[in-house]
Amino acid sequence: MNIRTEPIQSEADKNLQQEFNQWAAAGRGDEMEGHHSDITDQTLALMNLKPNDRVLDLGCGTGWASRRMARVVTGGEVVGVDVADEMLRRAETASTGIGNVRYLWGSAESLSLADNTFSKVLSVESFYYYADQGAALDELRRVMAPGGRLFILINLYRDNHYSLRWVGELKVPVQALSEAEYITLLQKHGFVDVEARRIPDRSPTPETYSGKWFKNAEELRDFKRIGALLLMASRPR
Ligand SMILES: C[S@@+](CC[C@H](N)C(=O)[O-])C[C@H]1O[C@@H](n2cnc3c(N)ncnc32)[C@H](O)[C@@H]1O
Repeated sequence: MNIRTEPIQSEADKNLQQEFNQWAAAGRGDEMEGHHSDITDQTLALMNLKPNDRVLDLGCGTGWASRRMARVVTGGEVVGVDVADEMLRRAETASTGIGNVRYLWGSAESLSLADNTFSKVLSVESFYYYADQGAALDELRRVMAPGGRLFILINLYRDNHYSLRWVGELKVPVQALSEAEYITLLQKHGFVDVEARRIPDRSPTPETYSGKWFKNAEELRDFKRIGALLLMASRPR
């Protein structure tokens, strides 16, 4: 991991680092693979990765999606970025021996990465945590190659009413924009070919639900049927 002295500057990012370091220590980083696997695989299919792609995985957590992509971009590279260094320690351990994946500790709003680098960007269940989503989009446009493609996948957005239950319960602030607002935001920050899709979660739902977010398994099924929001856009050529 590329550890610099003080990569996390803002109070918002320090809070995110602290919160997600706790998630990592509690094993929740690894659990997320099970939760996000089906919607991420559908997104990976749409990304149409090529062997020479250079891919950024923004908010990579423990890096399971980075490793899936590294298996495809055999002549390219995957860089996973995350604000939580504890997530990245786990990512690095799990990536031992994989030559084309590396991890960088830092904030989405200030990426220590060169201009015009990435042909594809994936971000899974991370974008709504960013205090300044516009700054993150400006950074993404800067580090993406001309014509590069961006794929932002989120389960928390205004049009999925179930996900709004999380807003007051999470220990860090989140953004709950609608699909239409995200499209406008991407366009405002210089992206073109902006489109949105819903990605239903097709993973099996147990007959009974005992967690805290849904009243019963039927609600969970409905949440999964509504699906995640996938935002796709290009950096102009
Ligand atoms: C819900 S987890 C998802 C992790 C991973 N993409 C997955 O699906 O397993 C959100 C991740 O985004 C990271 N994150 C949140 N805010 C961030 C920011 N401002 N910059 C970089 N990473 C951030 C968190 O540390 C956390 O690892």
